[in-house]
Amino acid sequence: MANSKERVVRFSGSARFAHWGHTVTFIVLLISGLALFSPSLKSLAAIFGGYVNAGVVHRWMAVFFTVIPLACLAANPKGFKEWWKDVFSFGKNDIGFLMVFPLEFFGFKAKIPPQTKFNGGEKMNSVVTTTSCVFLAISGYIMWFKASFPLWMVQWSYPIHDICMILATCMVFMHAYLGSFHPGSGESFWGMWKGTVRSDWAEHHHKQWYDKVKGGN
Ligand code: HEM
Repeated sequence: MANSKERVVRFSGSARFAHWGHTVTFIVLLISGLALFSPSLKSLAAIFGGYVNAGVVHRWMAVFFTVIPLACLAANPKGFKEWWKDVFSFGKNDIGFLMVFPLEFFGFKAKIPPQTKFNGGEKMNSVVTTTSCVFLAISGYIMWFKASFPLWMVQWSYPIHDICMILATCMVFMHAYLGSFHPGSGESFWGMWKGTVRSDWAEHHHKQWYDKVKGGN
């Protein structure tokens, strides 16, 4: 039985840098993007000193938003590979997790089937958020350098950018709530902040991963 005083390492420095870098740039891109979206949101543009500056900030942030994950991928390709391997190994226990998740969400004690490093919900979040962000980046660069692309691509980029913005924003906010404020899973915040989590939490929420870490393989 795991001890509540013991901690296990969950995320490396580069994974945490990629995560928080993505969070900060995403929020600035969301606010500056909404300022560009509609003149009725000009109070948001005022945060950046007006509409034109909001566009400049949006483009600069977009560069960091692209470079940070790519730099972290280059620094730690093994970590990224492990993440993707786990995320795409969606099986019976992940479906089981999704079935009991509503109980856990509303504070009832639920028997969670043993999960790997990422549970069924986190796997879905990783796939949807990453895919939306890749499409946000592709459509964003097409809008930015519109003179270099055919007109139909530029025209498609606007609705694609907006739909992915809505999708990614829903996922990011849901993920932020579950990963920090939700009483059952709040410990996961410390995994991404300090790099470690309590052993008893790891055993309860990610039994397969915990056993693997403890077994040293
Ligand atoms: C590499 C990433 C990104 C790039 C290169 C990029 C680029 C751009 C550009 C150039 C525009 C202005 C289009 C114009 O001149 O009218 C724009 C608009 C916008 N961006 Fe981004 N962006 C990126 C990521 C994001 C993210 C992560 C969000 C929000 C989560 C976002 C939300 C928006 C919104 C709401 C608009 C207004 C769209 C519209 O007018 O229909 N962008 N983006």
